[in-house]
Formats: sequence, structure tokens, C-alpha cells
Amino acid sequence: MARRSQVGSRDAFDAAAADFAALGRHLWEPIGADVVELVDPRPGERVLDACCGTGASAIPTARRVDVEGHVDAVDISGPMVAELRERVSGLPQLHAHEADVTAWEGTGYDLVQSVLGIFFFPDVAAGARRLNGAARPGGRVAFTIWRRGAVEPAGRQLTLSVAEVTGVEPPGERPRGPVDAINQPTTFAPWLSGLGLSDVDVVTHERRLTMTPEVAWLLVLGSGYRGALDELTPDQIARVRDCYLARLDETGLTHLDTTTLTGLGTTP
Ligand SMILES: C[S@@+](CC[C@H](N)C(=O)[O-])C[C@H]1O[C@@H](n2cnc3c(N)ncnc32)[C@H](O)[C@@H]1O
Repeated sequence: MARRSQVGSRDAFDAAAADFAALGRHLWEPIGADVVELVDPRPGERVLDACCGTGASAIPTARRVDVEGHVDAVDISGPMVAELRERVSGLPQLHAHEADVTAWEGTGYDLVQSVLGIFFFPDVAAGARRLNGAARPGGRVAFTIWRRGAVEPAGRQLTLSVAEVTGVEPPGERPRGPVDAINQPTTFAPWLSGLGLSDVDVVTHERRLTMTPEVAWLLVLGSGYRGALDELTPDQIARVRDCYLARLDETGLTHLDTTTLTGLGTTP
């Protein structure tokens, strides 16, 4: 997502909640389904789904652990949690909580997972360590992040469009941040081992999002990218939309790389 969102724009996610759910069909849900298939939650397990959003991984996880299991789905955004609560009738094993998961006190989980969440933590390693500590000894931990370069071309065109519409100097390429040190399989695996996990494996899910105009704009409205529109008037937002879609067209961005890396490990 946009760098702005990666440093934790909670307001952006609050505003995005309804569109986030609409984008889910195209983006979040297929990613969540792949992760759940990989981590294989079993009937009766206790799971912490950190940064759950509207439930792309928490809901299929709850189905797998079944009524004898328990899923704590935690998100810092109240509107995200409200959307999730509306979607979970018939899953009494799924418990949605509005909270900062880096301060979550639950422990002893069989599985701790966070899909596209940890890079929002102000201190990514400290937050990830905290999540590891929530798993029971011998429990499974899974963190999913974007692979280097994924999603960014759309963010760049959005940034340039906002600059054009607001008349500011277009910013340069985004500066490298902490996540750039870990967003390739060769760097993610040792980082996870360094957090104290064993049996570490990193699985790459290659995927591409078809950027119809509807989906391309939903990607802005239904993700942390929405924060880029925060200060704009409705008229400016409409112009940003037109400019962004025209730029995607001109640059031939018909398919966006949305490849993810899921790192799995076991706690000591
Ligand atoms: C890109 S979304 C991913 C949501 C979901 N896991 C999915 O795959 O659809 C990132 C989510 O992380 C949440 N988030 C960011 N920082 C958080 C924190 N410290 N504690 C809990 N949730 C957080 C945001 O509110 C947002 O819903």
C-alpha cells in the first residue's frame, strides 16, 4: 500500500472500511483464502488474526476451526471491525475486537496470523515479536507482506495524479523504509528466524489484479491509499480519479502485480 498507509494511517482505514469490503472480492479475499489454505487452521484450534480488516482471513479461519475452536480477530479500526461484525453471523467462534494488536494481551494461541498488517506497526520487528509471544510454545506463526515492487506502480500514479491536481511539485520515488529490508524471500526468511521462529518457510503467491477502471479506483478508495485523498475537495477527488485512470491507461497498467510473501514459522 502507499507508504503513507504503511506508517499507519488509521484514519485512512476508518474512511475506507465500506470500499475495503468491496475491494475484498478482487484483492483481500483471494489473498486471505491462499493464506488460510497454507496455514491450515484445524478444528478446535485457538487463533489470533492480527490486523483482521473485514475478515478476509479471519472468516475462512473461523469456518475451519469450527464451533469448538476460537478466533480472536483484532483490528485497530472501529469501522473495519464493525464491517466484520456485520459479516459473521453464524460463526460464534469468531470474536471481533477493536484494539491495537501490538498491545494485545491474549496468549497461548495455536496459530497467530497477520495478513498484510505487520508493516503498519510503528516498529515492525517489535510488533512481530509481540505477536510471536502470543502463540503457545510450538505454535504456528504466519505473516503475509507484499513482495518488493507489488502494488507500488498504482500508488505512484496516484501520487503523481494528486500532485498534478493540487499543483504541487511531484514527489520523487518513495524513500526506502524498514519493510524494504524484508520484502523478498531471501530477506524475509532470515528476518523471521531472527525473531526467534524455527522451521521457517516463505511461500510466494504470485498474482495480478486486473485493473478495470472500477477495480483501479476501488484500490484507492478501499485501501490505505485513500489517505492520499484526505485533504482534497470532492471536485479535486473527481479530477484525481480521472487523471489517475488516464495515467494507468497511458502507462499500460492493465494488470497490477499483487504478489505476496507468507512467512511461516514455529515458536520455541
Ligand atoms: C491492508 S489491511 C489488511 C486487512 C486484512 N488482514 C486483509 O487481509 O484483508 C491492514 C489492516 O491493518 C490494520 N492495522 C494497522 N495497524 C494495526 C494495529 N496496530 N493493530 C491492529 N490493526 C492494525 C488496519 O486498520 C487495516 O485494517
